[in-house]
Amino acid sequence: MGDQSVVSLANDSQSGSPVTIPTLRWEEPPEGPVVILLDQTRLPTEEVELVCTDVLALVDAIRSLAVRGAPVLGLAGAYGVALAAARGFDVAEAAQLLASARPTAVNLGYGVRRAAAAYRTALVGSADPRRAARAALAEARALHAEDAAASDRMAGHGLALLKELVPGGGYRVLTHCNTGALVSGGGGTAFAVAHAAHREGLLRRLWVDETRPLLQGARLTAYEAARAGMTYTLLADNAAGSLFAAGAVDAVLIGADRIAADGSVANKVGSYPLAVLAAHHNVPFVVVAPTTTVDLSTPDGASIEVEQRPGHEVTELASPRAPVTEAGPGIQVAPLGTQAYNPAFDITPAALVTALVTENGVASPVTAATLAALAPAEAG
Ligand code: MRU
Repeated sequence: MGDQSVVSLANDSQSGSPVTIPTLRWEEPPEGPVVILLDQTRLPTEEVELVCTDVLALVDAIRSLAVRGAPVLGLAGAYGVALAAARGFDVAEAAQLLASARPTAVNLGYGVRRAAAAYRTALVGSADPRRAARAALAEARALHAEDAAASDRMAGHGLALLKELVPGGGYRVLTHCNTGALVSGGGGTAFAVAHAAHREGLLRRLWVDETRPLLQGARLTAYEAARAGMTYTLLADNAAGSLFAAGAVDAVLIGADRIAADGSVANKVGSYPLAVLAAHHNVPFVVVAPTTTVDLSTPDGASIEVEQRPGHEVTELASPRAPVTEAGPGIQVAPLGTQAYNPAFDITPAALVTALVTENGVASPVTAATLAALAPAEAG
């Protein structure tokens, strides 16, 4: 792990402006360049920054979910390549280590490839590793700026869609996992849409699924919603059914880790059951993701590799790092030796998705054709 330092972040709830959270940034102190992350395993109880001086610390941070969520994983990958280049680490090896740190979020490999391609092109052109390192950093910064701009555009398109799907405002929106500023260079994906509705006074309530087993909803989305001054209510994931049955959900907004060419959506495990519930109750199920999350080279949902995580995350509470106490194992809740099924993601078929909101516009229905029109194949 990298070095740690405690920070105190201002609360944005009064300003009405987008939530600004320094999720990931590049700095160049005299000792050499570093990537600094807000350690998401410590939130909400502690705001601690993790200073990664080398690629291995960054890979460790990705695996342990200190940095997590599809778009920001792309940034971590790109800055990781820049860090390797600037620190004289073998760039091809760094790219391989970073890209394979987690398998499902397509953005990770995308960010790595972009920075590594910029590095290689500059090296071929100049034969100067320092110039190539600067090119990799410039590419990471460009991706960062693009991601922030994509958040703003998704928020705009998503809010316009909500206004069509749920006329009259007063939205009660259900969300799963964490999709706000913590996962992005900007305001995020699904959360950014809810936040835009909140800023216009149109959001009545954000229902926040706790998101077992690692509690990204309870720890991170509730943290972001509180900072933004939203009215929100936390629920255990298995309470969602009764919420739909009570007619208390107007729309579901979620993000995505990878969207296959047929429109299948991989997102945090528990998303698919929400899509089934939404279809049964005739509630719009909306996926919000930048086009960098669309992977036209993966033909369908069955071809998406779903990360399987350690069983102790299920057999213990607040594991792998206890968010309530300092660190160490969680609280054992199952008999020792219990086997656990712990996929990090599930796949929602396109037929259950009412609409996909990207920075380039909205696909509805989500089909191979509407998807390809919004997200052209990755260049190069
Ligand atoms: O395992 P995580 O916390 O990285 O999973 C994150 C999610 O599933 C998010 O919903 C997804 O990355 C979309 S965020 C834009």
